[in-house]
Amino acid sequence: MSYPNVRLRRLRYNSIIRDMVEDTHLRVEDLIYPVFVCDGKNIKKEIRSMPNQFQFSIDMLPEIFDKIISNKIRSIILFGVPEKKDEHGHVSHNSNGIIQTALKFIKKKYPEILVIADLCNCQYTTHGHCGTIIDGDVDNDTTVENLTKQAISLAKAGADVLAPSDMMDGRVLHIRESLDKNGFQKTPIFSYSVKYASAFYGPFRDAANNSPSHGDRKTYQMNFKNSSEAMREIELDINEGADAVIIKPAMSYLDIINRVKAKFNIPIIAYNVSGEFSMVAAASGNNWIERFDIIFEILISMKRAGASAIISYHALEIAEKLNKNV
Ligand code: PBG
Repeated sequence: MSYPNVRLRRLRYNSIIRDMVEDTHLRVEDLIYPVFVCDGKNIKKEIRSMPNQFQFSIDMLPEIFDKIISNKIRSIILFGVPEKKDEHGHVSHNSNGIIQTALKFIKKKYPEILVIADLCNCQYTTHGHCGTIIDGDVDNDTTVENLTKQAISLAKAGADVLAPSDMMDGRVLHIRESLDKNGFQKTPIFSYSVKYASAFYGPFRDAANNSPSHGDRKTYQMNFKNSSEAMREIELDINEGADAVIIKPAMSYLDIINRVKAKFNIPIIAYNVSGEFSMVAAASGNNWIERFDIIFEILISMKRAGASAIISYHALEIAEKLNKNV
């Protein structure tokens, strides 16, 4: 059958029908909000390239958690911005480190919030790379050893979920084995399986002070000209024990999300990264675009592509609107 018997507009004339036949939905439960914690006291520092996003010292966290809770956001991803760093990022597995202290504080005061701990070395190394440098490059296996120590330390401090974002080979396997040995069989790993070397992370480097002092991350993060390689990364991480996979960036990588969704039966989390946020912030700050409509369309596109959940700096503002049922 075809036109004139078929008229697809019949389903579009009435808003009740339009709503009834929607096949993609965005819920507050889908949103994960990134929180940056820094050393010091009484600090709420706006991130230069990310308007209205802040680094908080631990004593100031209640301000942002009150917003998270009142907007009914149920999960956050935590990033540490420590004052002290070292060659190998060993500070990352100090039981009194910035994230460990923040985790204890948050889990005690806000036990209802799911806390995902980002697991990486780049915020903790003096050179800003994601691992230990040997012969001028990040050494895979030494870095995995350190990451595994960090994983245990974060789990002990109360992390509900671990999210390794370093792109070293074999880290999911080692982290899984070590978590299990230490009694954390129940702690899920949400692996950043597909993380491209991307200019979209630019503003995050202001947020987390993790710019590499030399070189770039192309020997460990993926080449953005590749698609099939992402399938291999996902397959390996699933085999190593990943419980969900994170794909990052998201907006220019919807094809990858969709391809992974078609091929694998595993929950996908899209990371709507800093550069995506800052572009929207700049354009809407100039009244060039309609902020809420644009954000909503972007986030829906990630869900439509196949994501189950989305990490987004827009989470609070969108949740506020969703709760009002706009
Ligand atoms: C590294 C990390 C990065 C982001 C999250 N974790 C950046 C990087 O590789 O430099 C980027 C997130 C964003 O841009 O919002 N641990």
